[in-house]
Amino acid sequence: MNEIKNKLTEYAESFTSDESKVLSELREHCYAHYEDKAMLSGFVQGRILAMFSKMIRPRVVLEIGTYLGYSALCFAEGLADGGKVITLDIDEETNKVARSFVEKTDYKDRIEFHLGNAIEIIPTLPETFDLVFIDADKPNYSNYYNLVFGKVRPGGFIIADNVLWSGKVLEAVKDEDTQALHDFNQMVLADDRVSNVMLPIRDGLMVVCKN
Ligand SMILES: C[S@@+](CC[C@H](N)C(=O)[O-])C[C@H]1O[C@@H](n2cnc3c(N)ncnc32)[C@H](O)[C@@H]1O
Repeated sequence: MNEIKNKLTEYAESFTSDESKVLSELREHCYAHYEDKAMLSGFVQGRILAMFSKMIRPRVVLEIGTYLGYSALCFAEGLADGGKVITLDIDEETNKVARSFVEKTDYKDRIEFHLGNAIEIIPTLPETFDLVFIDADKPNYSNYYNLVFGKVRPGGFIIADNVLWSGKVLEAVKDEDTQALHDFNQMVLADDRVSNVMLPIRDGLMVVCKN
């Protein structure tokens, strides 16, 4: 089963448009120097995020969890004229790397970095968001959703990564992160202010549209 899945993933990759040179350099840098390489969105998911952004044409994207800046650069590809990506992360070291890669691109003036705890930063942001990407610490997923919800425009989107958590959401006994993700999934499904679809792509993407 896994062999077929891997082959289908390779097939999907081979039939997907190339990413930019900087994005592939960034992925290579991550795979060569970081143990937690699975944190980075990866090629096909990156192309999906870029495609969502091109479909939505957002003026303001909020990303919670910059890591090395890969997904921020993917979202930047679809920005409306004058639009920007605001990206938040708590880790100084990875943030420096993210900034250095973004600096090499045409998006350098359109990606705004904030370093610190996202829980504290979000309430200080005055913008209304067209698209929010939740991809940071799992126990706070529901908190992030509730914190951003009032700042998302009607018809805007919230996308959350890792909602399948390597399949652990199916386990009867769940660790803290898994339980938090399962609670988040249940909360979204029960929220009558939104419609949602869970996409079983990579580690699972929850796509939410605010009514
Ligand atoms: C999965 S990575 C983000 C990956 C990135 N979005 C991508 O797809 O390439 C999660 C990031 O969340 C950050 N993070 C964890 N807790 C945080 C918090 N409380 N506030 C802000 N960032 C946090 C971590 O430092 C890490 O860089």
